Amino acid sequence: MIQLDCSKLNGFVTEDYLSARKDALTRAHTMLDESNGPGGDFTGWVKLPANYDKEEFARIKAAADKIRSDSQVLVVVGIGGSYLGARAVIELLRSQNYNLKRKDTPDVYFAGNGLSTDAMLETIALIGDRDFSVNVISKSGTTTEPAVAFRIFKGLLEAKYGKEAAAGRIYATTDKARGALKGLADKEGYQTFVVPDNIGGRYSVLTAVGLLPIAVAGIDIDELMAGAAQAMSELSVRGLDNPAWQYAAARHALYEGGKRIEILACYEPCFRFFGEWFKQLYGESEGKDGKGLFPASVEFTADLHSMGQYIQDGHRNLFETVVRFENPHGKLLIPTDPDNVDGLNFLAGKSLAFVAEQAMRGTILAHVDGGVPNILLSLPEINEKSVGWLIYFFELVCGLSGYLLEVNPFDQPGVEDYKKNMFALLGKPGYEERKAQLEARL
Ligand code: PA5
Repeated sequence: MIQLDCSKLNGFVTEDYLSARKDALTRAHTMLDESNGPGGDFTGWVKLPANYDKEEFARIKAAADKIRSDSQVLVVVGIGGSYLGARAVIELLRSQNYNLKRKDTPDVYFAGNGLSTDAMLETIALIGDRDFSVNVISKSGTTTEPAVAFRIFKGLLEAKYGKEAAAGRIYATTDKARGALKGLADKEGYQTFVVPDNIGGRYSVLTAVGLLPIAVAGIDIDELMAGAAQAMSELSVRGLDNPAWQYAAARHALYEGGKRIEILACYEPCFRFFGEWFKQLYGESEGKDGKGLFPASVEFTADLHSMGQYIQDGHRNLFETVVRFENPHGKLLIPTDPDNVDGLNFLAGKSLAFVAEQAMRGTILAHVDGGVPNILLSLPEINEKSVGWLIYFFELVCGLSGYLLEVNPFDQPGVEDYKKNMFALLGKPGYEERKAQLEARL
């Protein structure tokens, strides 16, 4: 499915950077497969494309059908791994302008991924008097941002439809047994979907966490899973010709050679949230114990006119990974102009895709010449299968990379610190001493 071009690493890494990591990659891959490395209890995603719960999958499709039939809007309440995957896939496959398009599927609004009053009020205003349903997603069932947002949307649903009918419009995706959300869902009779115990938030897009909103948006989730299953099979190869090994080795060699920032670039605006998903996946998985590449993302060519300056000419501690989709879904030719005042007739009759391709090729060489190594990942086109494939590829490389770096790629201890301070400042019972200390410092 993927073509990986690492030729633009020449001169930046040693010639044997891949073979030198063969043993470490073999160990890393085995630990992922056998769930016996650090964080091994959270490697359920490795075999998920083959082992997913088919009964729940059918319930996801049925729930999506119901939401499509009785709602003009689906509000997806979740944060981090409980929202980024769904948004990434919907935008990549259905456009960043999905909600603006004329379509026969509901608008999908994402809420509970922050604490902005204005953003929340705007979402409520956008829903207006339309029929809506809510998919509240929280693995722990206790995360503050989605819990607060859910309270608000639950209240709006109950005011509009009455308590009982509102319950029929609420879908809760959470732990199978633990957490406040599970307790509430059982008490109120919401339909529930499970975040498996052995899959952490940022690896959960191919569970009900991502699949329900994705299916509501009219995306073929069978094909998405088929793409992931194809990746799982193709990338299970233990050898240096495995593109997941090649990418993981390249990233690690660049890190060891002093690079500190990986910029994920794409020439498709609909890729933007895939970049956000990538940043969470890699940032939370690798950034710990004082180690890790800082994951960044850019949209080209737009960001060549902003971040392009820094990439070309700033600190030389970065490298680029470009994701390229070879074939657009349509064709657009540049017209001839008899006056040629803009001097563009040399492009007349050429496709916009051809221009974009030359922009990409020229940019890669310019950045390489400027000291920015480049990794190019090419896929034929954006479709359900290729996106499923890409998700699995990035997840696998992330797991491998974490083990190469000798960190636990499946925990996120650093995320807890802000939560404790927030709870203390909000006056949550049990945090009195911390509150006094923080208030004194503030
Ligand atoms: O990857 C992770 O585990 C986190 O980013 C979580 O997804 C995020 O903190 C939300 O957690 P929860 O789903 O428990 O509300």
